Amino acid sequence: MTAPRTPEAAPADAAALADFAGELAERAARLILDLRSQGVEVAASKSSAVDIVTHADRESERVIVEAIRIARPDDGVLGEEGTGIEGTSGITWVIDPIDGTVNYLYNLPAYCVSIAATVADPGAFADGRRAIAGAVCNPRTGELFVAHQGGGTTRNGEPIRISGKTELATALVGTGFGYTVERRIEQAAQVSRLLPRARDIRRMGSAAYDLCMLAAGRLDAYYERGLQPWDYAAGALIAREAGAEILGHTDGTAPGEPFLCAAAPGLAPELREIVLGD
Ligand code: IPD
Ligand code: CA
Repeated sequence: MTAPRTPEAAPADAAALADFAGELAERAARLILDLRSQGVEVAASKSSAVDIVTHADRESERVIVEAIRIARPDDGVLGEEGTGIEGTSGITWVIDPIDGTVNYLYNLPAYCVSIAATVADPGAFADGRRAIAGAVCNPRTGELFVAHQGGGTTRNGEPIRISGKTELATALVGTGFGYTVERRIEQAAQVSRLLPRARDIRRMGSAAYDLCMLAAGRLDAYYERGLQPWDYAAGALIAREAGAEILGHTDGTAPGEPFLCAAAPGLAPELREIVLGD
């Protein structure tokens, strides 16, 4: 077992980065809502036929990237829909222009824009980066979640905290499923281990929003295997700053694509053990 990590101090401007992330997320969220009202079509599919991208995903990413390039030209940018810009400032923005694209297609109200300012930190998350500021905006509920390292989490400007529940038997657990058949077979086995042990399971369809729901105490825990950096960068900071512990596959491994589990510190290890069946 490795020693617990000591988080580095956040740069002095983390709060300003969080404000900027919030403004961008709100702007892009308004855009995707507006585009949705004009109709939606699948523009392409990605890892499988059910992993889709819409015109609005691309347009949202374009608008966010353009705004970052104007305001902070030295920063890097990584976006789900293909943006990959190396920066020189040490900050890389990690963007999900629509998290919950399938909900967006079906007009279900759980989709959002997720934006995080990250710094390199090899042990922090599986992608080697750590968010120091982030924002998630759901245009259908009018919610803006914002956090910066050491500054707590707000929802529409008001501080929020996790539920703090530590008993799995009465915990409401969020999760999500990947897009490939192989991944879903694994995930079905995980759900079948957990379902008899928890209050219930929710699959809302947006990992970023799930992590915000955990931060707001509307879920008691969340886990998923196969997340990409843009799915969790902002949401994991938002959950952590609201009191959640974020665990990887084992105590020695960083959370991220291989596995990410988030809950009150008294619940996360037990949830992980049951889900992974170790
Ligand atoms: C997906 C959602 C979903 C999660 C998947 C993600 P997308 O992102 O966050 O809840 O289960 O793992 O890929 O495709 O809607 O941006
Ligand atoms: Ca996503």
